[in-house]
Amino acid sequence: MSVMNHDTAEVSAGATVGDGTKIWNHAQVREGARIGANCVIGKNVYIDAGVTIGSGVKIQNNVSVYAGVTVEDDVFLGPGMTFTNDLYPRAFSAEWEITPTSVKKGASIGAGAVIVCGVEIGEYAMVGAGAVVTRDVPAYTLAVGNPAAPVWRVCRCGRRLGGDGKCSACGAEWPYLRSGDREQD
Ligand SMILES: CC(C)(COP(=O)(O)OP(=O)(O)OC[C@H]1O[C@@H](n2cnc3c(N)ncnc32)[C@H](O)[C@@H]1OP(=O)(O)O)[C@@H](O)C(=O)NCCC(=O)NCCS
Ligand SMILES: [Zn+2]
Repeated sequence: MSVMNHDTAEVSAGATVGDGTKIWNHAQVREGARIGANCVIGKNVYIDAGVTIGSGVKIQNNVSVYAGVTVEDDVFLGPGMTFTNDLYPRAFSAEWEITPTSVKKGASIGAGAVIVCGVEIGEYAMVGAGAVVTRDVPAYTLAVGNPAAPVWRVCRCGRRLGGDGKCSACGAEWPYLRSGDREQD
């Protein structure tokens, strides 16, 4: 296996990219970035210097993964979703601080969502399209809206879990995720 870089992709010689990863048109991968195996890096994606991306990650078109963001294995980043890394941006400020953000294994972020930095998107969590995330999203939880709020638990397959922790879509059971319809926390 090897890496597929589109002719127009710009991948720094100082970046490392795992086997089987595909990097599409006009994507840019900066120096010191580390991308795992079997990822798909879409058109116009920007991976900042020093960023770590796990294996099996899918990044849809027009996503920028800025310094301070960590993306674990099997994460899905929907088209045009936006990360941030500066909580109090000023164009004229020379001293600014990166606030880290973490997207844990198997989590998905819907199209056009905005992640305000300093949060953790938990394992297999899901963020709805267009959400503005300002607080941590617990593992196996769907959060939607602005500001994003948890609405219900989700299965590893992405569908809603019943109150008994059973998935009506794939039949998987997650008894420790038993809950009411709506998250109260
Ligand atoms: C959030 C999501 C997972 C919910 O899907 P679902 O379980 O099928 O939910 P439903 O469509 O039955 O909607 C349930 C309720 O949530 C609302 N809702 C659905 N998606 C929403 C979103 N992104 N933001 C806010 N509310 C949303 C619906 O309007 C509905 O509200 P109602 O009960 O008041 O009528 C889905 O709508 C979504 O946003 N998926 C991400 C899609 C995406 O960005 N894909 C990227 C790759 S193309
Ligand atoms: Zn399921």
